[in-house]
Amino acid sequence: MRKPIIAGNWKMNNTIKEAKDLIENLKPLVVDSNVDIVICPSYLSIEAAVELTSGSPIKVGAQNMHYEESGAYTGEVSGEMLKELGIEYIIIGHSERRQYFNETDETVNKKVIKALKLNLNPIVCVGETIEERENNKAKEVVTTQVKNALAGLSQEEISNLIIAYEPIWAIGTGKTASSDDANEVCGWIREVVKELSDQSIAEKIRIQYGGSVKPDNIKELMGQTHIDGALVGGASLKADQFAALVNY
Ligand code: 13P
Repeated sequence: MRKPIIAGNWKMNNTIKEAKDLIENLKPLVVDSNVDIVICPSYLSIEAAVELTSGSPIKVGAQNMHYEESGAYTGEVSGEMLKELGIEYIIIGHSERRQYFNETDETVNKKVIKALKLNLNPIVCVGETIEERENNKAKEVVTTQVKNALAGLSQEEISNLIIAYEPIWAIGTGKTASSDDANEVCGWIREVVKELSDQSIAEKIRIQYGGSVKPDNIKELMGQTHIDGALVGGASLKADQFAALVNY
């Protein structure tokens, strides 16, 4: 049985003060939850988030990292720096990073390898554009993204990954993929993982859906056979809404 994992990707939202307020409001609402709960604030709020969530079921992740340990990469943050702050998860390859910040399958792969070396749990994001879906290319695109992201990983490393299927057309648009469509793609992803490792790892690995997940659609999504959690943007910014997702 795979334990569900609900993660909030705060994106470029919340000052440190706002982050602290949100965490304080969230904590009492999720004490009895049976799922893994992760919040991914901006780098600046990570230290406060780790401190404030200590002793609570909430774990902290980051939204990105560089694959090098240090060096002349102005504006970047390394996995080592994040690890020192006490994060446990790292979102890698979010479509917004692919779209606006030149993230490629190759850099995603380097970051996944680095994160695993640091014992961070990567949440690897994949997903197709609306044009790709309309041209029946979704399967090909997602399959390629997963294969490239996981290239060179050992079976054990693969078993420690979380993969998030986030169709780009569903992100921040209010258009959720139907639960059947989302489940179908998560099933394809599980097949690819099986090809790259084996049946037991494919059955163990957790696959999230992301894209306009809200309190009114979480239950149906989570009821699908291949969907083990959600990666949530907008609805993770309000304590009551995120708590409703966690306590679905
Ligand atoms: P929304 O939940 O705002 O659609 O964002 C999804 C997302 O990109 C999470 O990483």
